[in-house]
Amino acid sequence: MKRILSGIQPTGNLHLGNYLGALKRFVQLQHEADCYFCVVDLHALTVPHDPAELREKTMEVATLYLAAGLDPDKMTMFIQSHVRAHPEASWLLECVARVGELDRMIQFKEKSKGSDSVSVGLYTYPVLMAADILLYQADAVPVGEDQKQHLELCRDLAERFNRQYGDVLTVPEPLIGEVGARIMGLDNPRKKMSKSAGSPANFIALLDDPDTIVKKIKRAVTDSENVIRYDPDEKPGISNLLVIYSLLSGESIPSLEQKYQGVGYGQFKRDLAEVVVEHLTPIQERYRELRKSGEVERVLAAGAEQASRVADETLNKMKESIGLLPRL
Ligand code: AMP
Ligand code: TRP
Repeated sequence: MKRILSGIQPTGNLHLGNYLGALKRFVQLQHEADCYFCVVDLHALTVPHDPAELREKTMEVATLYLAAGLDPDKMTMFIQSHVRAHPEASWLLECVARVGELDRMIQFKEKSKGSDSVSVGLYTYPVLMAADILLYQADAVPVGEDQKQHLELCRDLAERFNRQYGDVLTVPEPLIGEVGARIMGLDNPRKKMSKSAGSPANFIALLDDPDTIVKKIKRAVTDSENVIRYDPDEKPGISNLLVIYSLLSGESIPSLEQKYQGVGYGQFKRDLAEVVVEHLTPIQERYRELRKSGEVERVLAAGAEQASRVADETLNKMKESIGLLPRL
């Protein structure tokens, strides 16, 4: 069976982009593959953060994993910092990675722009991500399109490691969905929906209440043509809303275009808000139950144990092949 690994950072609010680009697909994949899903809290340390908020957000993301439908009997989920092998493997890979490669990372350039206190961790972040993946010998990694470059680096590092030290690491494939890989911001449909967006009008958080969802969709930026047609270049706003509608309802985009022929944006947005609310309400209810139950903590403890077993085995192979003397 194929092995799959992916992770989400516990920063900001988990939003529809994370859900459609990542989490919803995790839920489907747990039935088809041997899946490992982590909350990558060490990655959240790369930017300024508040310790109490990090703890809360880590729990929030882990709970949302389960609330969205990940099943502890079908996959392994864990917190990245609970598995010691991640930073250790990351160091080994840092000694394989090249400065020139990291210099080319678009996300680093974007995130460090205009800041005069950029952490070293933000720069080496893609190497830690490679460690996350390679430790589990993952065959495939489901992510949104924004992570494609990081995955290419991961593949390059695995191939270089194997060339230099023997066949130790599985070279993973990216698993990027065709639709939903890039959900755009509601306030600016030419830029991706993002946790770090300045305004909450940019995203629908998975935990937004129904009123907020209705308001945000009503205010979503669209063109003035008042025709519901999928055309990402000319009509990025409406096209983005069509993608969200289609992915949540299961109706195809052409069938939605047909359904809304001659109907204005107002009605379309009201219907979409209803679809979003209907989809998110059960997730939110389950979220609230889980937070009270203590179940998440139990799942995370078992997950950390299982993940450590797999990760330690790979780490030991890496250390041995790279020339570190085994501890007896
Ligand atoms: P992050 O929020 O950066 O930790 O991302 C978690 C996952 O959500 C990754 O797989 C991202 O590629 C995915 N993701 C983030 N933003 C979007 C978006 N706007 N559209 C689709 N996928 C996204
Ligand atoms: N860098 C990813 C993001 O920002 C999160 C991440 C960290 C990840 N480690 C990973 C995703 C391993 C997939 C696999 O979205």
